[in-house]
Amino acid sequence: MKKTFALIGAGNIGGTIAQLVLERGLGDVLLFDKNLGLAKGKALDLSQAYAGSAHAGSVSAAESYADLAGADAVIITAGLARKPGMTREELLAINADVMADIARGLADACPNVLTIVVTNPLDAMVWVFLKASGFDPNRVIGMASILDTWRFKFFLAELLGVNSADIHSHVIGAHGATMVPLISHTSVQGTPLMAWLKNTDPSKIERLKALVGRTRNAGAEIVEHLKRGSAYFAPANGALAMAQACLNDEKMVVSGSVMLNGEYGAHDICMSVPLVLGKNGVERIVQLALPEDEQAALLTSIKATAALINPLK
Ligand code: LAC
Repeated sequence: MKKTFALIGAGNIGGTIAQLVLERGLGDVLLFDKNLGLAKGKALDLSQAYAGSAHAGSVSAAESYADLAGADAVIITAGLARKPGMTREELLAINADVMADIARGLADACPNVLTIVVTNPLDAMVWVFLKASGFDPNRVIGMASILDTWRFKFFLAELLGVNSADIHSHVIGAHGATMVPLISHTSVQGTPLMAWLKNTDPSKIERLKALVGRTRNAGAEIVEHLKRGSAYFAPANGALAMAQACLNDEKMVVSGSVMLNGEYGAHDICMSVPLVLGKNGVERIVQLALPEDEQAALLTSIKATAALINPLK
């Protein structure tokens, strides 16, 4: 059944999500941006782009939160993006205010709507949104780890010379420099990564470390190339995949940033962990057993995330 996607923020990621929804015939789009002209301009351009496509839904600019009532999913990308040399964390003060405003607007217009947060610094923004909206925590998910995992899979696929779709993995923890690609839970069609490397090409084992580093820096690598703005195709595809997993009750196993109350030893912070996503949003937080080194790396990531979020409390 066609759904209505409310996109808050009509920048590069919001615009790309809108196009994906229309291109794939997934439903209708409401574009909302504090720059109304940007939302109106993109809505017109997209409407005209798909005027000849019978399967494409409609796209229009929303002028107020009230216009978003009845949306099936909201994806929030509003806020400043990074400039070269900036960390995601430097965006905190500005984007926290933006996020709290959006949360209050949505709490009035569409309470407890399925919400995917993309704005950085991601984990802190999910936390701010939850506190300011009062939404059910199972209905609010941060998109980052699906993206970080795709990046890890892409780099690994290049290293191994295999199709990235045959690699399964989880990158968990903060959407930042301390994220933890779980080597212990990475496989090539079921063969554990380390066994695969030992059997096929042990000389590549030492390149894994650099690859983990490149994954942690993958967003910044793109910012450095673009000079203006940050990645948007992959974040858009990731956010939409998570929304669809919930709307279609896919029971998708994927990592996302959610409120943790004891899981993985984290308390009252949001951070990415493996989830099952279905019609209820977060249907399960999956608790994986980790080897000591990954547990230690995750603890570092938990501390970094807590340091970001605790001052907001
Ligand atoms: C990135 C932004 C979306 O990682 O955080 O590219």
